[in-house]
Amino acid sequence: MANHTEILGQTESSRHNVIKPDILLKTIEHPVTIQKEADRHKKMPISPLLSLKGVSRIFKSSTTDIEILKNVDFNIYKGESIAVVGASGTGKSTFLHIVGTLDRPNQGSLFFENKNLFSLGEEDLARFRNSKIGFVFQFHHLLQGFSAMENVMIPCMIRNMSRKKSSMDSETILERVGLKHRIHHRAEDLSGGEQQRVALARALVMKPDILLADEPTGNLDKQNSFQVHNLLVELNSELGMTLMVVTHNSELAALMDKRVTIQDCKIVDVVS
Ligand SMILES: Nc1ncnc2c1ncn2[C@@H]1O[C@H](COP(=O)(O)OP(=O)(O)O)[C@@H](O)[C@H]1O
Ligand SMILES: [Mg+2]
Repeated sequence: MANHTEILGQTESSRHNVIKPDILLKTIEHPVTIQKEADRHKKMPISPLLSLKGVSRIFKSSTTDIEILKNVDFNIYKGESIAVVGASGTGKSTFLHIVGTLDRPNQGSLFFENKNLFSLGEEDLARFRNSKIGFVFQFHHLLQGFSAMENVMIPCMIRNMSRKKSSMDSETILERVGLKHRIHHRAEDLSGGEQQRVALARALVMKPDILLADEPTGNLDKQNSFQVHNLLVELNSELGMTLMVVTHNSELAALMDKRVTIQDCKIVDVVS
């Protein structure tokens, strides 16, 4: 399972430089608006953004081997939205973690725009994750004791972005997810739905090419789930951001361009 450090695109060596309170606590003066990039990201796939080739994943234990993925080929195209659905324990999270480079397959390759990601060293892979991939999980993994904005600024600080740009970008994206009035609230003082929207803002602040969400509304009530679903769909089209979401929620799955499931250790389209 991925830890905090990996999710945020840090490596062990950069971990200790993350929180710089003097930088984090500075207030914002000039919020900017997110540029609508839809026109630059039309859904006209030519070659895949991400491509899995011959990927196999087996979990070995002392008593038995669990085969989850077997020789899987799968392409993800720029701007598309994909729901990964299916029963518990079939390997949806495993698949998402491999796509996000948080887990390595036993065999096979993952290409991002023709770059073989698992040939990179850990440092380069962490940098890749930080800039290209956003993650949202069922549990928000926010740092308690820090404000919404400080939490969202963390990926920016890891990348040594200036304090001004980090705070401006964080405020902008928090505003976009409907939390302008909560930016200085501490994580633990926010409601569950608000916390998950902060996690979404943190995943998006670096403007990733792809957002990977693992049951992002699994802990939310209907109203908050609805808000997060709408945000995911809007951001997918507004930012041209590729979206892959594992979900048990049929309403959310129905909003995606494509639905796939894991069957016999392969990824197959769901016929709806
Ligand atoms: N690190 C691991 N070691 C051993 N078994 C694992 C590990 N991660 C997942 N599994 C097993 O692999 C199967 C698929 O897990 P997972 O990908 O979490 O499924 P899903 O997300 O579809 O519920 C489960 O049976 C799970 O127990
Ligand atoms: Mg899972």
